[in-house]
Formats: sequence, structure tokens, C-alpha cells
Amino acid sequence: MNILVVGGGGREHAVIRSLKKNKTVEKIWCLPGNGGIARDVECVPVKATDIEGIVDFAKQHPVDFAVVTPDDPLVLGCVDRLEEIGVPCFGPRANAAIIEGSKIFSKHLMEKYHIPTAKSMIFDSSDAALGYLRDCEYPVVVKADGLALGKGAVIVQNFGEAEKAVRDMMVDKIFGESGSRILVEEFLVGPEVSVLSFTDGKTVVPMVSSMDHKRAKDHDEGLNTGGMGTVAPNPFYTKKVAKECMERIFLPTVEAMNQEGRTFRGCLYFGLMLTKAGPKVIEYNCRFGDPETQVVLPLLKSDLLTIMQACRNGTLTKDMVEFSDGAACCVILASEGYPLRYETGFEITLPKTKEGEEIFIAGAKCKDGKLVTGGGRVLGAVATAQSLEEAVKNAYALAENIHFDNAYMRRDIGLRALKALRGE
Ligand code: AMP
Ligand code: GLY
Repeated sequence: MNILVVGGGGREHAVIRSLKKNKTVEKIWCLPGNGGIARDVECVPVKATDIEGIVDFAKQHPVDFAVVTPDDPLVLGCVDRLEEIGVPCFGPRANAAIIEGSKIFSKHLMEKYHIPTAKSMIFDSSDAALGYLRDCEYPVVVKADGLALGKGAVIVQNFGEAEKAVRDMMVDKIFGESGSRILVEEFLVGPEVSVLSFTDGKTVVPMVSSMDHKRAKDHDEGLNTGGMGTVAPNPFYTKKVAKECMERIFLPTVEAMNQEGRTFRGCLYFGLMLTKAGPKVIEYNCRFGDPETQVVLPLLKSDLLTIMQACRNGTLTKDMVEFSDGAACCVILASEGYPLRYETGFEITLPKTKEGEEIFIAGAKCKDGKLVTGGGRVLGAVATAQSLEEAVKNAYALAENIHFDNAYMRRDIGLRALKALRGE
């Protein structure tokens, strides 16, 4: 079995490590991959957004199955194009990836099918948005409709901040056309939970829950980032909450997409807020989360490739997906200054990993045979263990043994989850 993986971050590295556990896998190509992934599989410098480049590669190589992980190629129709030339894929088609590609689409979907979410208003002109924001109650969340590298939601505390967010998105177009239309959303309060799920369009099987740490600094201060660390499972996601989410959110979403003629197959990610009034959807992603995947997949006991093929073929069953009852923690090592300005090009030294440890490389290049930093989020140090406490301790011990100049990590990944477990 020869597999093509589209993408090049820590999430793809985790997916590839899981796929490699299947003994029938002979070859994996990663497009474009990165310097760290290149130590495991062949990386080919074709950008994840270069759909025709990916299709050409697949025509010229004996690809049996493709896994498309990032949001933009999914929204651009990478799966549609690959399936057209006979390559079976894991990932939704463009008409289903819109669940992430347009927040206005997903908001309308949730309203139409009574799926709990934050109340919101939609605007296609800055004047109308500012007119509303002048006398609304704060805080509110201003969101760009389209993809914005995970930076398209801004929590604003007053009209001044709201005005800036609206101008950035709609007038200065910092996210391009993604900000042509915006949503102004009710601010929800409660613990956040990420639930990734496998679905073949009929059956939906949630993976172990997780908790992201999106802010750059300890105690959830600083700017929003792509994610500075994760833990799984998320202690706020109890059996009772899980049941409620399945009944009120997961199944209704998959059924709603079918009703709309947009059957979703692949990984459907539910970003949830557990409010006093019950769980509500903050966002859908049409793909594995990053860095959630780095803690979820190391806990998967079943074979990932078999599950992915079942999602593609409409044969997914619940018993195909089994997770260990342990816990995992991922600490991201970033370049000092991320998510704003940072330097790259520093050599990375990695320790040998032991059983229960993984290092997933995200922003790194290979230069003269050495691994050097090449991005904001450089890598994830991951540990799995019987308890969350041990997993957190081991992930930090692993992170301490990884070296590169200007390395930065949060020191409190998992703290909120551990406090919740202790009932604090
Ligand atoms: P998003 O880009 O939609 O994933 O939002 C990024 C982050 O902003 C989320 O992970 C939340 O922490 C926060 N956020 C988004 N929407 C809301 C909301 N309606 N209420 C409170 N926080 C939100
Ligand atoms: N960690 C959130 C995301 O992948 O969008």
C-alpha cells in the first residue's frame, strides 16, 4: 500500500507515524512535509495548496490512497480532484469542507437544524457591522467568514477594539476575501473541548477528547496562536457531556450535511464550549486539529489506515475505533517571538525517544544534513502515560531535553486539566 499525505506540520507527522504502524504500508510520500518528517518518509516539495501539482504527482506515482489533512487543500477541492483520477482519499470533498471554509455556512446550518451554537449576526458591509457594534453589549466575538490561518476570531471588549477588528477584516482585508463577510457572535463562557471524530457520512465515532492551549503565554495570556500544547482526555468532557454532544451536536451535524447534499467523510472536528446552558459549537473544522492530533493519535489502539479506508468507503463501525484509557500531553516548542516576529535557522538537537514518547516536527528544515528551525511552532514533545499527571510530567521532561536557540514553551500545559481532575 502506497500512501500520499498532503500537508507538512506536526499533525501530519503524527498521522504518518500512526499510518506507518500498519504493516501493509510500503511507501509514504508527504507533500510538502518538512525537515523532520523527511527523516521518516519521502517529502516532495509540492505545496499543499498546489492542487494541480498534487494531482500531477499522483498521476505519476503508484498512489493507492491519499490523506489530505490541511484545511485549504480540502476547501480547494483536493479530494474531489484526486478521486476524479481514481485515487481514494481520506478527507471531505469541497462541498462538505465548506463546514470549515465558511463560518456563515456553518452558522446557517446550525440554525436551520437546531444545533446549539452562539447567537450571531452576519454583515457584508463594514458600515452595517459598525452600526450594530456601536450599541451592542460587550464582549462579543468578531469572526471572518473564511479561512484565516486560525486567526480569524477576535474577542473584543469595547467599540474601539471592535472597530479595529472590523476595519482589519473588511477594509484593510488582512485575511483577503475571507473577511469580505463577518459574523459578530455572542461571547460564550465555559471550558473548551476539542472533539475530533471519524465519520463515513452515516456513522460518527468520536475520538478521545482533548484540550488545546491557544494563547501564547502561561495562564492563557498573550496572543492567540495555532496552539501551544494539548492534553487528552479533556476532564471536563464527562460521559454525560459526551452523550449530550452525540445526541444534540455530532449526529445532527452529520445528518444535516446529508440533508444538504453535502455528505461529510473524513475527520470532523467539533470545537465546543461547555456553557451553563449545555455544550455549544464554537467552530467546526473539516480536518484533524493541530496540535490535538499529536495527543489523540498516540492513544489510538486501532489501525488508523483501516479506519480511514472505512470512512472513505462508507463502512465505518464503532468497534473499529479503540482508544487506550491512558492520557497524553503535547508541549509545543516554538521560536521565541511567535506568533509575531521570530528568527529561524537554529540547529535542533533531539534526544532519543523512549517508549511512551514522541517528537512531532512542525516548523523545521534540513540544512547540510542538520535539522534547523524553520517556523513559529517548531515541534511538539509528546508523552503518553497511565495518568494525565505522569503524561504532563514526562512531556515536560522530554521537552527539556530538546535544544535549539530561542526556544520558547508554555510552562502550564495541562495545569487546568489537572486542577479539574483534583476538583480544584
Ligand atoms: P475560532 O477561530 O472560531 O476557532 O476561535 C478561536 C478561539 O476564540 C476559540 O478557541 C475560543 O477560545 C474563542 N472563541 C471563538 N468563538 C467564541 C465565542 N463565541 N465565545 C467565546 N470565545 C470564543
Ligand atoms: N487546534 C485548533 C485547530 O487545529 O484549528
